[in-house]
Amino acid sequence: MNPHRAVWPALLALLLAVAVVAGGGVAREASAQGTPAYLDPSLSPEERADDLLPRMSLAEKVGQMTQINATVLQGDPNNPWDRAELNPAIMEDVFGPDNLTGSILSGGGATPLENSPRAWAEMTNEIQEFAMARQPHGIPIIYGIDAVHGHNNVLGATMFPHQFGLGAAYDTGLARELANATATDVRATGIHWDFAPVADIWRDLRWGRSYEPFSEAPLAAGDLVAASVRGLEGNDLTTHVASTTKHFTGYSAPDSGRDRENATLTERELWDEHLPSFIRGIRAGTQTIMANSGPVNGEPVHASHDLLTTLLRDRLGFEGVVISDWEDIWKLVNVHHVAANDDEAIAMAINAGIDMSMVPLEADRFTDGLTRVVNSGAVPMSRINEAVRRILILKFRLGLFEQPLADLDEAEDIEGAHMGLARRAAASTMTLLENDGTLPLRRERANVLVTGPSADSMPNQLGGWSIGWQGATNPDEIPEGVTVREGIEDAVGLNARVRYAPGVPSGEDAEDPEARTEAREAAVRRSRGADVIVAVVGEAPYAETPGDTTTAALPAGQAELLDALAATGKPVVVVVIAGRPLMMGPQLDAAAAALMAYLPGTQGGRAVADVLFGRVNPSGRLSVTWPRSIAQAPLTHDRMPGEPYNPRYEFGHGLSYTRFDHSGFEAGTRGDDVRASIRVTNSGRRAGKHTVLVFASKRGASGNFPASRLVAYRSVWLQPGDRRTLNLSFPVRRLIVRDDGRSVVEEGRYRLTAEGETTTITIR
Ligand code: BGC
Ligand code: BGC
Repeated sequence: MNPHRAVWPALLALLLAVAVVAGGGVAREASAQGTPAYLDPSLSPEERADDLLPRMSLAEKVGQMTQINATVLQGDPNNPWDRAELNPAIMEDVFGPDNLTGSILSGGGATPLENSPRAWAEMTNEIQEFAMARQPHGIPIIYGIDAVHGHNNVLGATMFPHQFGLGAAYDTGLARELANATATDVRATGIHWDFAPVADIWRDLRWGRSYEPFSEAPLAAGDLVAASVRGLEGNDLTTHVASTTKHFTGYSAPDSGRDRENATLTERELWDEHLPSFIRGIRAGTQTIMANSGPVNGEPVHASHDLLTTLLRDRLGFEGVVISDWEDIWKLVNVHHVAANDDEAIAMAINAGIDMSMVPLEADRFTDGLTRVVNSGAVPMSRINEAVRRILILKFRLGLFEQPLADLDEAEDIEGAHMGLARRAAASTMTLLENDGTLPLRRERANVLVTGPSADSMPNQLGGWSIGWQGATNPDEIPEGVTVREGIEDAVGLNARVRYAPGVPSGEDAEDPEARTEAREAAVRRSRGADVIVAVVGEAPYAETPGDTTTAALPAGQAELLDALAATGKPVVVVVIAGRPLMMGPQLDAAAAALMAYLPGTQGGRAVADVLFGRVNPSGRLSVTWPRSIAQAPLTHDRMPGEPYNPRYEFGHGLSYTRFDHSGFEAGTRGDDVRASIRVTNSGRRAGKHTVLVFASKRGASGNFPASRLVAYRSVWLQPGDRRTLNLSFPVRRLIVRDDGRSVVEEGRYRLTAEGETTTITIR
C-alpha cells in the first residue's frame, strides 16, 4: 500500500487551511459548508469538475492551460536548460500567484540532476507538493513525458524497441503489454501522462522521425495505436497514465521530407492515410491528442480551427484534452508568420482548439498573454471554461487529487524490470532481409568475428529519445543492457570463439581517412581466423529535425568496411541497427545474410543473438517500404495506381528459417464482410511464426483506390509439417475511399493478394 495514499487527504485539508489563512476565501466558504464536492471521490470526474470550475478565478484557469518544461525549474533562472537541483525561487514564480502553472513536462533529457528512478520520484514529488500548496483549490499538477519506448528518459528503466520495429511484429497483444509496462514505470515515478503513441502514418524515410510511426499501413498502425492506448490507460486510469495520440495530423508527410515543414494533402490522403490511426486512438479512449507542429496545405495546424475543432471535435467526436506541441504557439509568429505578435498567436491557437499550451520555457509569456486576450474578448470565456473543464476531468480521472505523489519504493522497483519482455519484444521485430543459408549460425562451434560501429554500442541500439533527446550521448549515463557483441558472447557454446574489432574509428577520428583505413584493415586481419563475420552497421542516434536526411546513406566508412569484409570471401552477416531503411544496395547484395534489427532497445543485443543462433526463428515483416535509392522517396505500397513500385524490399518483406507454403486462397462477400481464408503449411524443418498479409487493389476505374492496400493480416505458429487454414475475413469498410467529401466503398471488382496467391471479389 502506498503510504502517501493514506496521508494525502489530511495533507490536502492542511493545504486548504493554509489557503484560508492566506486569504483563500473560497476555501473558507467551502469548509463552512463541509467538504467541497470536488474533493469527494465518490462523485464522477465530470461532477467534480463542474463543482470546481465555477470556484476558480481566471488566473487559476489560465494556469491550468499552461505547461512548463522541468529544466526551467532547475538551477539558474536565466538558463532554462541547465540541469541542476530544483530552484525554489523559480518554482515560486512558475507555481505561485503570478502563473499558477498546472502542468509540467520533461521534454527529452529534462531529468533530475541525478538520473535514477528514485531521484525522478523525489523530483516529481517535490514539484507536486510545491505546486499544490500554492493552488488556491489544491489542484495537483499533471506531469507529462515522452515515454515512447519504455520510460526512456530514466536511467535504470528498461527500454523497448521503437515503434517502427514493433510494426514489423504484427502483434497487438505485445504492443499492449509493452504499453502497460511503460505505464507502470511512468506512474511509479510520479508522472501521469505519456506523450505516446505516435499515430503518424509512415511515409518518408528522409524524415528525422521515421522510426517513430508504427507502419506505413493505416490498418496495422491503427491496430497498434489502439492497443497502445489501451495498454497505457488500462482499465483504471488511477493506476495507469493518460496517453497522447500524436501528432494530429499530416505531420509525417512533409513535402520536403524535412521535419515540421508543410504537408500538401489531398482530402483522400487525409482520410484514407492519415486519419485512420487517429480515429482508432480516439475510439480506444485516448485521453489527449497533440497537434502537428507543421502546416497542412499551408495552414499551421496550431491555428487551424478546421482541423482541431471542425474535424477533430465535431466530426471525429474527440472529447479529451488537445495539447500543443513544443513552443508551437510562438511559432505562429516567428516561423509561420500567421500572427503578428504573441497575443494574436495565443488567441488564434486557443480559438482553433488548443486546450493546453506546451509553452514550455517562459510561463508568463503565455499566462499574461492569455489573460490579456480573454480580458480583451479575443478569446471567449466559454472557450477557457471548455478547455479547463477537460483538463480538470483528466486530473480527476487520473486520481490525482487522491494520490498526487509517487511512492519512492515503487519507483525503485522499476530498475531493471521487464527485461524478459524487452527481449521477447525485440526478438519479435527482427526482420530477415537476406539469407543464403548462412543463418542460423551454430552455437556450439561458432567461430565469429563481430565488428562494426553498432556491434557494441548501447546508444546506437537505443536511438533517439533515450536518456537525452538526441539519444544516450552522455558517456556517464549509458543505460545498462546487452549489446550485440555481448549477446553473441553470451549465446555461444564453450567451444566457440568470438573475436571483436570495431571496424571503424570512433570519436574525433571517425571522419579521418587514415584512421578509417587502419580500423578497417584491423578488422579484416582479425577475420582471418574466423569462419563467419557478423558486421553490425547503421546509424548513430537522432531525433526530429537533426535526423532529417537527404541521402539515407550508410555512412561511407561503414560501406567501405562492409566492402572490405566481403572481399575476404568469408560469409558476412550484416545486422542493420537504424531508424530507417538505409541505401546500401551493393553491400546487401554482397552479404551472405542481412538482418534488420531496427532500434531494438536495451535487450536488443540478446534478441539479435537469439535470431543469429536460431533460438528464435525470425518472423518480422517490414513495416515500411525499403527503396532502392533515395530518388524513389517517398515510396509506400499504397501509392496510387500508375506510380511505379520497384523498391529494394517491398512493404511486408521478411524471410524465415523455415518455409511456409500457401494454397487455396479463397474470398467472397457476405453481408458487410469479406470472408477469406488461406491454407498455410510449414514445409520446412523449424517451427515458426508466420504472418499472412492480404492486400487489395481495385480492378478497373476508380481514381481513388491505391495500387495496393493492406486489408487484413493474421499470424500463426506452425510446427514443421503443420498445415492450418487461416481465417482472413475482414469488414468491407476496409475498402473505403474518400471521394468528394464522403467515405465510400466503390462498387466493382477487387483483386486480393495474399503471399503470392490471388483471388477476386465483387462489391455491389
Ligand atoms: C515533439 C513531441 C514531444 C514534445 C515534448 C516535441 O518537439 O514533437 O513529439 O512530445 O516535443 O518533448
Ligand atoms: C524536444 C524536446 C527537447 C527540446 C530541445 C524539443 O523539440 O521535443 O524534448 O528537449 O526540443 O531543444
